[in-house]
Amino acid sequence: MIDVTLESVSKRFARAGDTAAVDDVDISIAAGEFFTLLGPSGCGKTTTLRMVAGFYFPTSGRIRFGAEDVTRRPPNKRDTGMVFQNYALFPHMSVAQNVAYGLKIRKVGRADSRRRVEEALGQVHLDGYGERRIDQLSGGQQQRVALARALVIRPRTLLLDEPLSNLDAKLREETRTEIRRIQKESGTTAIYVTHDQAEAMAMSDRIAVMESGRVQQIGAPQEIYHRPANAFVARFIGRSNVLSLPVVAVTDETVTVGRPDGTEIAVAAPAGHGLRPGESALVSVRPEHIGLTSATEAGALPGQVTELEFTGMATNLVVDVAGESVQVAAIDVPAGVAVGDRIGLRLNRERMWVVHP
Ligand SMILES: Nc1ncnc2c1ncn2[C@@H]1O[C@H](COP(=O)(O)OP(=O)(O)O)[C@@H](O)[C@H]1O
Ligand SMILES: [Mg+2]
Repeated sequence: MIDVTLESVSKRFARAGDTAAVDDVDISIAAGEFFTLLGPSGCGKTTTLRMVAGFYFPTSGRIRFGAEDVTRRPPNKRDTGMVFQNYALFPHMSVAQNVAYGLKIRKVGRADSRRRVEEALGQVHLDGYGERRIDQLSGGQQQRVALARALVIRPRTLLLDEPLSNLDAKLREETRTEIRRIQKESGTTAIYVTHDQAEAMAMSDRIAVMESGRVQQIGAPQEIYHRPANAFVARFIGRSNVLSLPVVAVTDETVTVGRPDGTEIAVAAPAGHGLRPGESALVSVRPEHIGLTSATEAGALPGQVTELEFTGMATNLVVDVAGESVQVAAIDVPAGVAVGDRIGLRLNRERMWVVHP
């Protein structure tokens, strides 16, 4: 296990014009950490991971494993284990032969190899599956074979690129718990790539949210969820209302904004928010942090229900408040509420947060 550092790493592909696929990325990953690159398709996650693996060299910047500079070292000299979306297993070989592949290349002796393959299959809970053919396994089992194959070489870093995308929803949830358990038990530093924010939050110690090749925010799941750095992160992680409201007064840590009903509310803001009275602030508030009440209740923000959708766990509503659409996810909806009704919104001030544009 080893710490991994990316220092001002950029990657430009020839013939891709001037835009960088990865643009000046700084990330420090601690030894043993489960670290995730999260962002929409095309934001540069795979390119970043491939530079850590050595399949691409950065156009500029440095990559270190511990104190070692590995920026221009070939993949087979980095001790990384890779797991891909499509498993990339050898279909004509047995499970054990697949797992042993990296050991064979490294010229590990037969007896030692057999012992380590058994140990790796045990780690992924596939004891006794060694002689099976790959096509006799389910998708989830195949992905665990791919994980065993990566772990058997005792890599310094485990790199996983959307490994659960080909599994159905239920299996995906089971397997993500498994991957996290295996990573923690093996102690290997893991870098995980996904576009699925729920998956990232469930699995990771920390997450880097990326967009257009740039890191937008790095933090623990709770931090990113409750204190998104900017409007992009607020909207990408879960759902969020990002309301543009007039600034009335400021301190270093709060911004008082005017609400559509003419009242004012002081909202927590990041240090160095730089906002001044007279400007507009973007205030993020999540749909599940808005309560429903009657339109006439004192302190409630009055609006009109324009959409209502029952999903089982919650009811999703869209409420028009002075021309702005506010999303609400309510566990308890007052009986009889329907589209067109006037309703009151109770905003939880503790859960509101000023974000950068
Ligand atoms: N080999 C390549 N040649 C040219 N452009 C590439 C290559 N690989 C990726 N890109 C471009 O770099 C950007 C980032 O891609 P990628 O890292 O695959 O994103 P992600 O994994 O987040 O979906 C995209 O615009 C993609 O088209
Ligand atoms: Mg990708």
